[in-house]
Amino acid sequence: MRVLAVASEAVPLIKTGGLADVVGALPGALAAEGVAVTTLLPGYPAVLRALEGAEEIGRFAELPGGAARVLGGRAGHLDLAVVDAPALFERPGSPYLGPGGDDWPDNGVRFAALGAAAARLAVRGGFDAVHAHDWQAGLAGAYLRHSGAQVPVLFTVHNLAFQGGFAASLFPLLGLPAEAFALAGVEFHGGVGFLKAGLWYAEAISTVSPTYADEITTPEGGMGLDGLLAGRADVLHGILNGIDTAEWNPARDPHLEARYDAADPAPRATNRAALCRALGLTASATAPVFGFIGRFTWQKGIDLLLDALPALLSTGGVLALLGSGEAALEARARAAAQGHPGRVGIETGYRERLARLIYGGADCVIVPSRFEPCGLTQLCALRYGAVPIVARVGGLADTVVDANQVALSAGCGTGVVFSPPSAGMLAAALRRGGTLFADAATWPRLQRNAMATDVSWSRSAARYAGLLRAIVRR
Ligand code: ADP
Ligand code: GLC
Repeated sequence: MRVLAVASEAVPLIKTGGLADVVGALPGALAAEGVAVTTLLPGYPAVLRALEGAEEIGRFAELPGGAARVLGGRAGHLDLAVVDAPALFERPGSPYLGPGGDDWPDNGVRFAALGAAAARLAVRGGFDAVHAHDWQAGLAGAYLRHSGAQVPVLFTVHNLAFQGGFAASLFPLLGLPAEAFALAGVEFHGGVGFLKAGLWYAEAISTVSPTYADEITTPEGGMGLDGLLAGRADVLHGILNGIDTAEWNPARDPHLEARYDAADPAPRATNRAALCRALGLTASATAPVFGFIGRFTWQKGIDLLLDALPALLSTGGVLALLGSGEAALEARARAAAQGHPGRVGIETGYRERLARLIYGGADCVIVPSRFEPCGLTQLCALRYGAVPIVARVGGLADTVVDANQVALSAGCGTGVVFSPPSAGMLAAALRRGGTLFADAATWPRLQRNAMATDVSWSRSAARYAGLLRAIVRR
């Protein structure tokens, strides 16, 4: 079976979040299931630079934003198709934001071109199915349906918070028939909704964890799309993300000071010390080094963590913060570090090596998200033996087993899970983490259980393959 994946990011070419990790890793995992994936990406400078053996595989005259070529080639293990439209994509830096930090004003046209190119290439290339990821690929299904093509679409939601909503004035630029601007089409609250269209036209919908699949059909978790999603519950599937366990392997990770495995995690101490040096932290041996890695946004609950800081410090532990995002939250995090020298350290920006040092050196990684479609940080933390402390939401609920008395006696706790996501419950969880860390009989078991968790793609790749085969058969 040949599948055309469509997305705006893929590791190792371009990444702003976990979407890129998933789009970059799934093709390899699906190959083992007999599914050959070609990934269609926008021709950002970084993507075109990485493309090897480029040759023209399509030239489409009437895309939104003008004519474009599609180049085929490879980058590492990825089989790529790239929309070469310099007027739309030849812009350095973030794929979505201009130099002032605001969305590019023509994002609607840019990602409509991606969807339209996907639909044409799917037909021209004889693909069996299209796998569209998130709002940027949301119009692929609309273009396929209105062209009368028979290629089925699996649409995967990575985050319902990013909906790709544009003014109605975009519609005439899309080249879709007038009837597409309807409730039964791309229209959403009087404008054009890319995510809504993705959900509407797809033959099957998936999201990145079973719990998030349930949450998004409710008014509390549906972000205005719960009605549509509940109505399509028969084709909605929750398939948990994995991580590339070759890429994320503490026994081989070149970014670590010391490499280790589950059989002997002792070298983690070297990474712990290096992490503390890097962030100016003075850690004690009897209290945890806590870490946080993620976007500084409401979703990720960084504000809850800063509110719960007194509880964290009361354990005797220290905190390593890595991330970037909203200016006000960044400022608060910096102020916390300034207010607690030696106890709270911060680095802002995207830092691959420091992230890996946190996974490989911190004792606990905190993920206090208010909602989390899947979350990859807790999966990396499990793999590297940094015991996760997570809110019981979305994929966090599906991947971490709370180390309560019963779980511990059954030998299956892998972390600390708290609910609801509030500063008070997080504070209690941090204190519990501190107590568990101090318990020399329990902590190594907890860490071993964490590292024994299967966070690979194998099971989920089989589910994606099954779902793709099912929509092709139908
Ligand atoms: P998101 O909602 O941001 O996509 P995920 O948990 O799915 O969250 O994925 C985030 C990924 O990005 C993880 O692999 C995490 O390690 C990485 N990451 C996040 N912020 C940073 C950062 N500042 N520096 C390095 N890696 C980061
Ligand atoms: C989104 C979600 C995150 C998920 C990632 C990859 O960015 O916020 O929870 O892990 O997509 O699916």
